[in-house]
Amino acid sequence: MILAGENVPAVPYDVLAPFYDAVNGEPEDRIHHVLTSLARYAPSASSVLELGCGTGAVLAGLGSGLSLTGVDLSVEMLDIARRRCPTAHLLHADITSVDLGETVDAVICVYDTLNHVPTLEGWREVCRVASRHLSAGGLFILDLNTVGRFRELGDQDPWVYDFDGRTLIMSVDFSHPPVAMWDIRVFEPRDDDSYRRHHVVIPELAVEVAVVHELLSEYFEVIECRDPEGYPATDESSRALVCARRRAGTPGA
Ligand SMILES: C[S@@+](CC[C@H](N)C(=O)[O-])C[C@H]1O[C@@H](n2cnc3c(N)ncnc32)[C@H](O)[C@@H]1O
Repeated sequence: MILAGENVPAVPYDVLAPFYDAVNGEPEDRIHHVLTSLARYAPSASSVLELGCGTGAVLAGLGSGLSLTGVDLSVEMLDIARRRCPTAHLLHADITSVDLGETVDAVICVYDTLNHVPTLEGWREVCRVASRHLSAGGLFILDLNTVGRFRELGDQDPWVYDFDGRTLIMSVDFSHPPVAMWDIRVFEPRDDDSYRRHHVVIPELAVEVAVVHELLSEYFEVIECRDPEGYPATDESSRALVCARRRAGTPGA
């Protein structure tokens, strides 16, 4: 195999954007988590802000009855989101600091987007951002990769996936906790028998469930923190699905 031309990304998801939807498929589980949380805890919600909206796959699945806003750091992911959700308000900004100057009924941050923020201070900032965009009683819906999940991924062989004539190879290095490094390569055939390699390394922070509760408690009352089977999430769960309600009297901005 001849390798030619490797992207060195400033924003890793700019490189992954052209492949993201083909590799990840439709986000039915994420959409289900958001819609069931809304139905259960905020049935009259009419506006949703997604922190780290990516290609807009989740926003697009929430239905046309909601006013939708999305924020992401990747211009390329946002370009796809703009085509997918033409009526959504989409913004190029950092989820640790964005301030839209308005509130919504629910803020969502899914597909371990919060894990992508590499410091606990950054997680605190995202909680502050979520709180700032909610009135008292508003919902913050998120999901996380757990410490146990990162350990399990770190022990696994690389994942190889063929799609649209390309090959993706992905592995997770968790030898230096609490940071897990996702190494993602996509080999894309050129016309001349060579391959173009797209390569990104994405850090994700592993945070214990107890610490997640502590961070959220500054602004929120946690209503649910469960695993995908519905049991209380632990550090050994495959995932933590969280729904929290903004407390009255907490600092907004
Ligand atoms: C795993 S993707 C999830 C995308 C989308 N939520 C979904 O469910 O398909 C994580 C997204 O978060 C974005 N992201 C990561 N850190 C960010 C930050 N600090 N500010 C804004 N976006 C960020 C990435 O650009 C990427 O689009």
